[in-house]
This record gives sequence, structure tokens and C-alpha cells, in this order.
Amino acid sequence: MEQEVIMVDQARDWWKQAVVYQVYPRSFRDADGDGLGDIRGVTTEMDYLECLGIDAIWLSPFYPSELADGGYDVIDYRDVDPRLGTLADFDDMVAAAHARGIKVIVDIVPNHTSNRHRFFQAALAAGPGSPERDRYIFRPGRGEHGELPPNGWKSVFGGSAWERVEDGEWYLHLFAKEQPDLNWKHPDVHEEFKTTLRFWSDRGVDGFRIDVAHALAKDLESRPLDELDQDPRQGEGNVSNPLWDRPEVHDIYREWRRVFNEYEPPRFAVAEAWVTPEHQRFYASPDELGQVFNFEFAKADWFAGDFRRAIEEGLSCAELSGSTSTWVLSNHDVPRHATRYGLPQVKATVHHQFVTDWLLRDGRTYVEDRELGTRRARAALLMEMGLPGSVYIYQGEELGLFEVADIPWDRLEDPQARRTAHGDAIKGRDGCRVPLPWSASDTPEPAAWNDAFGEGMTGSFGFSAPQAGMSRADASAAPHLPQPRWFADHAVDVEADDPASMLSFYRRVLDLRAHLLTATGDTSFSWVPGEELGPTPDQVIAYRRPAAGGKTFTCIVNFGAQAVPAPEGELLMASDDLSFGCIPQDCAAWFLA
Ligand code: NOJ
Repeated sequence: MEQEVIMVDQARDWWKQAVVYQVYPRSFRDADGDGLGDIRGVTTEMDYLECLGIDAIWLSPFYPSELADGGYDVIDYRDVDPRLGTLADFDDMVAAAHARGIKVIVDIVPNHTSNRHRFFQAALAAGPGSPERDRYIFRPGRGEHGELPPNGWKSVFGGSAWERVEDGEWYLHLFAKEQPDLNWKHPDVHEEFKTTLRFWSDRGVDGFRIDVAHALAKDLESRPLDELDQDPRQGEGNVSNPLWDRPEVHDIYREWRRVFNEYEPPRFAVAEAWVTPEHQRFYASPDELGQVFNFEFAKADWFAGDFRRAIEEGLSCAELSGSTSTWVLSNHDVPRHATRYGLPQVKATVHHQFVTDWLLRDGRTYVEDRELGTRRARAALLMEMGLPGSVYIYQGEELGLFEVADIPWDRLEDPQARRTAHGDAIKGRDGCRVPLPWSASDTPEPAAWNDAFGEGMTGSFGFSAPQAGMSRADASAAPHLPQPRWFADHAVDVEADDPASMLSFYRRVLDLRAHLLTATGDTSFSWVPGEELGPTPDQVIAYRRPAAGGKTFTCIVNFGAQAVPAPEGELLMASDDLSFGCIPQDCAAWFLA
């Protein structure tokens, strides 16, 4: 596959090749010692982020929220949750980021609000048939007294997608019942979000991540609701799907593009859209959001074929949309990849079920080979960072964190976490959302540890460590999710001084990528011909790119047992030691010629 050469204008289109670091604010750094990460915590660690070598941070929601879904239930889109700080703290954070050349992306959640949002409160107060109610999707129920939901749709988090209110009507919620879906046919909804986009853009925000971007437009009118009893599937690319990926959704994003273009440089957005690769490109087109998440890496198991397909699809979608691709190994919704790659790999679709199963049993069903997971995570980083396009890294992956599979059930926060008698138990996503370890020395007395977690401890691995002038007693609240004792091995202060650590590896890789690849503005790409790759080319991912100084860059990742011969040129870096000049299994290397 040869890609058409697209030169990126780095100043205007900085996001097309950016390394974006995802901050999950409640778990990044707690500056006020209440056990919950906050905006000042992000500002405090701006030097850390600069030193890592990222181009931008994306903050998951920090808005006022009841935390029914980790902040994705927004009460007010234009404010900061008081537990996380103030708008002034936000402005300080943006200033601190910009002073270091780091851009800021915020999360927009337009499919649903919190049930505490003023629109929903007004809808409840105004009653059936009112214009206020029409901002959401209310319907009468079925059955003699309307006691049955309008149809059998299930919410993504399980249970009915309909909730009944006191006056008897039902409202639609594709996620938790505290997240009522908005009616995007209502003009007030359009105005609310255009005002929100301008509000943050005026405060200096550089871009937006759009939550569930493929769900906003719905068609509940063309056919009677009870004829639509089947659960419409996400990402099937079918225009008769009443809920997901409807063509009208693109009118909304064309409207938003006009808002983005009011600014200089124009704002951009990246869509979270679980749609077919053929449809992703519409969201990413230049007259809509600009970029779309390609989640194929996050879904791929440790097989060369899975990654090859993911790369082919990502690049062809980018080419069709006139944008660049995105690469994602982990985020706040999936188990951490150092763990995924350390579990037994099962071909294709069953793997997801396999990991879920492992999580459910507190990580005891299968052996998690952490050494192997780490080795592959390092190789995966080289594979990802050499590619053209943007890379989204998730907080903690630079520390090589594993999934915390054994958080006790009674400490889980995720609405997905449920245990039922019907065999659909799910442990949810908290295992990748545990507060980060900053300092190995900030630990409890050993006697305070229970089996795996530091319950009742006085320290939090520096997550809530007191800032200058703050006493230990002011910073004594336990982190909102318990940290396992093995976090001590991954604390920032341990890894920062260790040249062999994952953190040091990330810093070197990001630095090389910026100078060698991004700086050229050239996004072209070609596969290395199979005959150069030894006896098992199908077990290898190998590609070339133009590099700074007119040189050629080559990345080789070996998934197979047969060592792969190194190509001509200088070895720039490798994820592990090469053996006799060859790239061994589960190892990747970068070369320059
Ligand atoms: C996608 C977000 O990434 C996820 O965390 C959230 O639960 C759903 N959208 C609903 O907002």
C-alpha cells in the first residue's frame, strides 16, 4: 500500500500529527487532597507532561456531574465541577499548557445530559407535550396504563433504555438512566452546544473530543416504535438504523464546522464514532469534525494480521476523508493494553469476552504474564509512534500500568459494573481509572495493607500528596478508587530516574518521532516488501516513511518466532535487545538509512 503524499501544515493543522495525552481528571493528580483528582493537579504536573514530549492534552469531562458515569453525565457544560476546581483554575491550566506549547482539548458530551441538567429539570417540571419536554425523547408507554416501556431497547449499560417519570411518560437513555438522550431536532439543543463550543474556544481551548458522535440524530418517527423492538446495532452502516450513525448527524457537524472556523487557527474535533471504517471518513471530513478515532488498535489482539488490517483501514479512511488517522492502544473505556497483551491471545472476536471473563474473576482465571505484556507494549509503542497521523495515549500507559482487575466489587464506581443472577455480570472500566502513582515513598505502613490494596492508608503514592504549605492531615482522604500495592513499582519518581523504565522509553520515542517524522510534515507511508522480511513475512509489520534530512525511516515489528533480519541503516532504537542483529519475537525496532 502506497499512500498519496499529504503535507501537513504544522501550525494550522497541528492536530493532524499530534501526540495527545488523555487526562482522566479525577484520577490524574489531586492537588487539594480530597482523594479526587482536579484541575490544579493537571497544572501542577505540566512539567511532567512537557518532559514526556506530548503535543496536547485531552481532558475527559471535568464539568459539574453527579458522577453517574464518570463525569459523562454533565450538569452544566460551561463550568468546572466544584470538587475539581473553578473556571479560574481552568484558565490557569490552559495558560500553563500554552506556555509550554501544549494544546488543550476538552470533551463534549452532546448525545445526553445529566438528569440534573437545567433542560431536564425544566422538562420534568413542564410536563407532557411541552416544548421543554421536547428537548429530550419522551414517549408514552405501552400496556393498558402505559406501564410498559415504549419498546424493548436496551441501554448500552444494560437494562431498559427507557425510564418512566412520575407523570407516566418514558424517556430514552442509551446509557445510564441518569443520562437522558437529547432530541437533536430541537433548536435549543443546537444553540446550547454552539454556545458551549464558543465558550471553551473563547477560553483558549484548541479542540474537542466528541462523545458518542454517531448517536445524536435519531429517527423514531418513520416507523411505529414497537415495530423497532430489536436492539439497533452500533456501527453497522445501515440507513434504516433509527439510533446510530444516521446520515442527518452530519448536518450537525457541518453546523459546528462553521463555529470552529470562526477561530484562527480553526478549532478541530475528533469524533468518538463506533461506525464502519467506510463511514468514519464522513465524521473526519474537513467540512465536519476533522478527525475520527480509529479504535482498531484498541480492539486488535497480538497478531500481525490484526494490526496490518487496522493500519490499512486507518490509512485508507484518512485518505478518503482528506484527514489523518488516529492510533489508540488504550483509553478510559478499555482494559490497559500491557495487560491485554499479557493474557493468552485468542484469535479474533472471542478475545474481548476472554478479557472480560478474566476481569470478572478478579484476574484469577488466566495467568497474566506481565513481563510479556510489557515487552509487547513496548513493541506496540514503536509500531504506533512511527505511523503517520495522531496518537492518543492514555494516562498511565507511559508508566506501563496494568489493569487493576481485583478492585473489590463494593468499591467499583462504573455504572457498567453489575452483578446479576442472569449471567451478565460485568466488572466495568474502573481497572484502568485508578489514580496514578506519582511517588513510591508515599505508602502506608505495611501493617495497614490488606491483601492487595492499601485500604486505610495514609499515603496514595503521591496522588493526593500535600502540596507545599499543606499539612499531611489536609491531604489524608483515600483516593476515590483503591490503588494496589504493586503501583509502587510504577510510580513516576521511580521510573523517571530509571533509563530502562517504560517512562524513559516513552520520552525517547516521543522525542525521536517529533524530530525525525512529524517535523517533515510528510505523511506518506509504504509497506516493506515481504521478501525483505525473512521466512515469515506474514508475522511481521514493517513500513517505511520519509524522515528528516531526506532519509528513510523503517519500522519493523516481529510477532513470530522466526527472527527478522535488520534492514540496511542505523538502528535508532529497539523495544528490546536485538539478537545477533536480528529482531526477535515480540520486539520492534526503528532504523534510518
Ligand atoms: C463514551 C465514553 O468514552 C464513555 O466513558 C461513556 O460512558 C459513554 N461515552 C457515554 O457518555
